[in-house]
Amino acid sequence: MKLLILLACLAGGPEMPLPALPEADTPEEWTAERVKLTGLFETDEYGKIPDNTDIDVRFRTMSSDSLAFDGAATRKEISVEFSDGKRKAATTVLLYVPNGLSRPAAAFFSLNFGGNHTVCDDPEITLPDSSAFRNPKYRFSESQRGADSLSWNIRETLARGYAVATYFNGDLCEDWLHGPEDDLGALLYPEGRDSLSCGFIGINAWGMSRVMDCLMREETIDPGKIIVTGCSRNGKIALWAGATDERFAMVISSSSGSGGASLFRGNTAETIADISKHFPYWMAGNFAKYAGKTEEFPVDQHQLLALIAPRPLYVSDSNRDIYAVPKDEYASVKAALPVFGLFGYDTEELDRQPETGKAIMGQVGFHTKAGTHSITAEDWRHYYDFADLHFGKPE
Ligand code: GCU
Repeated sequence: MKLLILLACLAGGPEMPLPALPEADTPEEWTAERVKLTGLFETDEYGKIPDNTDIDVRFRTMSSDSLAFDGAATRKEISVEFSDGKRKAATTVLLYVPNGLSRPAAAFFSLNFGGNHTVCDDPEITLPDSSAFRNPKYRFSESQRGADSLSWNIRETLARGYAVATYFNGDLCEDWLHGPEDDLGALLYPEGRDSLSCGFIGINAWGMSRVMDCLMREETIDPGKIIVTGCSRNGKIALWAGATDERFAMVISSSSGSGGASLFRGNTAETIADISKHFPYWMAGNFAKYAGKTEEFPVDQHQLLALIAPRPLYVSDSNRDIYAVPKDEYASVKAALPVFGLFGYDTEELDRQPETGKAIMGQVGFHTKAGTHSITAEDWRHYYDFADLHFGKPE
């Protein structure tokens, strides 16, 4: 049966039916159709990266220390510099790889919200230079070191045998109205921006792909086991990066909500109008055309999740989250399942929304934890298990 028909039965009320997944009877047909679907997301939601850019990207290892965390891991800081000869943009990737593994490591790669120094209390992580930013909120200090440790859970990630890579989400595009005009945005759109240009999400997703180029060269990382992930707005970025760059072998969305895993149709938490109003610089200019007209939006987020297939996809949220509401995320996951089915995966366990606290793990995984908008050790433990399931337990 065509996916189109299946979907019509599965999702969307009569008031606002979901846009159908492209018609496909075979993985080959789907693969051809996914290119067109990606194009719709570029045009109407996340924006388009120009086909040819004159951007030169250089990687430079700034430091490497095999004695991080009392010898449990090797810490590297790698500078990634973008230039077109006139303008520049840069970020610093912080990478931890567990020592003593018998094979190159699988890695979780996620952006961070507050600067690399916030992800754990390692005193050696370089503090970002506040004067390099235009956003007055970006002020970095020693007192913030490790402020986000609980959301990152890095020691346990390393103990479970996984590497971690991150960079600050404001480095390549500051998270404010002017962000897309500066830094990497200025390099991507030297002639000026238009309604198709990427905003904060699309620019950072492309940035993640360039950092992926760098991670793939690391001998201690398995290039076939790099997981793109992120929480909240960084989860939206992770999903779009995973959709557009199939080198990411697994995609994990943590409370990504609207513009991430949640459907826009039927969403009462954050609508297209809300995102366009509060974060107009996140998406392509075209996106705002659909504010108040969700029914005319040519795509919806189940199709974004479908773009991850057949790679393993995991979506998680919290039962008291007011942004990433579980019913909106689950409805989206459910509507994407037929594409995973097309690749032969049994997704029956997800036919019903899992109760809070229960994780489902097949080719598609899902859980809702008890709590508010957050990522915690509980979420990470499910992600480690999901990675173990698909990649094998690290040794
Ligand atoms: C805001 C925004 C959400 C986003 C969240 C976050 O609440 O409205 O869409 O996911 O920030 O990034 O924490």
